[in-house]
Amino acid sequence: MDKNRIPQHIAIIMDGNGRWATEKGKARSYGHFKGIEAVVETATACGNLGVKYLTLYVFSTENWNRPADEVSALMKLVLDQQSYLFDKNNTRLCVIGDRSRLSDEVREHLEALERKTASYDGMTMVLAISYSSRWEITDATRSIAQKVKDGVLKVEDITEETITQHLNTKDFPDPDLLIRTGGELRISNYLLWQIAYSELYFTPVYWPDFNEQELVKAIEVFQTKQRRYGKTEAQIEEEMKNNIK
Ligand code: IPE
Ligand code: IPE
Ligand code: MG
Repeated sequence: MDKNRIPQHIAIIMDGNGRWATEKGKARSYGHFKGIEAVVETATACGNLGVKYLTLYVFSTENWNRPADEVSALMKLVLDQQSYLFDKNNTRLCVIGDRSRLSDEVREHLEALERKTASYDGMTMVLAISYSSRWEITDATRSIAQKVKDGVLKVEDITEETITQHLNTKDFPDPDLLIRTGGELRISNYLLWQIAYSELYFTPVYWPDFNEQELVKAIEVFQTKQRRYGKTEAQIEEEMKNNIK
């Protein structure tokens, strides 16, 4: 692995907890519980490698439709998280998603962690909780429309940057690498705007089995990619030569 070409921002769809547990004859919630260990290992490894932003899909808007006992087991796991990992790794926590659907207890717990870790500057861990990209884009559209209505924004001044700045992720760069564990080749309503030019990596490994070694594999594949952003290979090579000079 090239230590000088570590992705600045990695986003992960942590999928496969339920199947991992079911295959072991255990309750799905046990898979979620074990998934926390993979979060701790992955976050620590990212911090050590110099990744600056790690955005984890914890709970989607659509996951509210799961059986009530699974939803409450997941919310309980969120409530169980203390600031230890953040203190130890100098990691700032930010939460994205529709907070209005969270219970007061969960929302206040997360907001207290956000406040406590606000000055930590090693890495930023973004947790997507009660999040979906279509919800986020709809919400952004409403605030932009409101500003136009209030006369503080002109229609002709709306740019791509305006939309970016109205998303929950306005303070973070776009992901360089998106990883999905659990074998499905889909995006499941995650960061649709932000992943326009992310490199995508899919692995059959279930999330509780994901670890530092699997993370390194994903980064190694990422490092084999030439990111062209619509240009030609020759143009990119020319730009690289000029950068080195
Ligand atoms: C991902 O694992 C965690 C959440 C969606 C909360 P799943 O719970 O979706 O696990 P599978 O996909 O059913 O195996
Ligand atoms: C995506 O996983 C959401 C999270 C990992 C939190 P899902 O398991 O909910 O996605 P689908 O239903 O397989 O698309
Ligand atoms: Mg799943």
